[in-house]
Amino acid sequence: MSFKKDFMWGAATASYQVEGAAKEDGRGLSVWDVFCEKQGKIKDKSNGDIACDQYHRYEEDIELMAKMGLKAYRFSLSWSRILPEGTGKVNEKGIEYYSNLIDCLLAHGIEPFVTLYHWDLPYTLHKRGGWLNEESPEWFAEYAKIAAEYFSDRVKYFFTFNEPQCFVGLGYLSDIHAPGINGPDRDAFTAAHHVLKAHGKAVQVLREYGKQPLKIGFAPAGKYTYPKTAAPKDVEAAKKMMFDNIALEDWVWSVAWWSDPIFLGKYPEAVCEKYKDILPAFTQEDMDLIHQPIDFVGQNIYDGRMVACGDDGEPYFVPDYIGAPYTTINSPVTPEILYWMPKFLYERYGKPVIITESGMANVDIVSADGQVHDGSRIAYLESYLQNLCKAADEVPIDGYFLWSLLDNFEWAHGYQGRFGLIYVDFRTQKRIPKDSAKWYQTVIATNGGCLHR
Ligand code: BGC
Repeated sequence: MSFKKDFMWGAATASYQVEGAAKEDGRGLSVWDVFCEKQGKIKDKSNGDIACDQYHRYEEDIELMAKMGLKAYRFSLSWSRILPEGTGKVNEKGIEYYSNLIDCLLAHGIEPFVTLYHWDLPYTLHKRGGWLNEESPEWFAEYAKIAAEYFSDRVKYFFTFNEPQCFVGLGYLSDIHAPGINGPDRDAFTAAHHVLKAHGKAVQVLREYGKQPLKIGFAPAGKYTYPKTAAPKDVEAAKKMMFDNIALEDWVWSVAWWSDPIFLGKYPEAVCEKYKDILPAFTQEDMDLIHQPIDFVGQNIYDGRMVACGDDGEPYFVPDYIGAPYTTINSPVTPEILYWMPKFLYERYGKPVIITESGMANVDIVSADGQVHDGSRIAYLESYLQNLCKAADEVPIDGYFLWSLLDNFEWAHGYQGRFGLIYVDFRTQKRIPKDSAKWYQTVIATNGGCLHR
């Protein structure tokens, strides 16, 4: 079992979660700045005003990445730092920040992977209707063009959206995340369609204005399933649950609703049938726009649910065993998902897979020796990566981005879900690489060889 020679070992973050400097150098407000001010939305009443202060400390962070031997860093651009009003005037200071960050990464031999949108819509655009406005794909294309013009001379890898499932599911259909609309399915379908059109337009614009041939993808989430056994009937049951049944009942979280139009040029028929009375019109022109060729299947994968085939031939969810492990933000620990998902995705979409996020929230405590001994994270990562390695023997997998480089602002959980390889003391901004960072360094140095013991 082995990973390919040039496997991209990386770590990921997102602008609002790490940058801070929320009110500096001309950055405009985003929906998250405003959402954090609402009563009761963020567990510890915090926000991203300072976060990890990466805006001022990126050089120190990149030194730490280099020590770990990271080959790639996935980060997102803050749209409102670049275009404070969402469209129109460019903020030179914002461009300068990302330009410096990119140069510093490259100087340390680390490949930048840029995500255009990780949930922080400029607030001005939200006031104009946000993703419900039919002009939103144009706004996004304008922003993508600026990213291409300023950064694509040095950045080869771009992602359009991070997890549309989350910002539409939790932000439009519910009010757990910004912008907190809590609206009906009808509107969420409209927002989702605009997001997909925005994706398509951004791909076109990146290809047109890119200063070198670019590698483009997107980084969705999903509710994932894996089979109880490798018997064909269980494998088929898991796939059916994942691509058909879940999609029907819980369309916004499905992989198929978002990825089928992008890779296959059509929405899943069963969902269209169930919701036919409330869906917006999808023209062939829209579908062609969404169906732009992209270069890989990116997928954020944290956990999944075990499925088996029942005596009636129908798939069912296998209940947890007593004492099954859960992380501190209540995600089940299911390492098998990193074996099965890449296989399912490759089979359905036929492109090399990149795991764009995976990792765990933990209770990390600084010990008396000043170090952070996060053994459970190492156990977690080891089991997940062993599964990924097994999958890499069967389907093409180009990279893996651990979530996250640093402890950071974990959205509605505030700072209480620590995901980092590097501990951050938010009182002082002191960084302490955890034991898992040292362990990951060995994984990278041996290209996964140390996972087999
Ligand atoms: C998101 C990250 C988030 C992580 C852990 C993903 O859903 O892309 O922003 O911090 O999961 O919850």
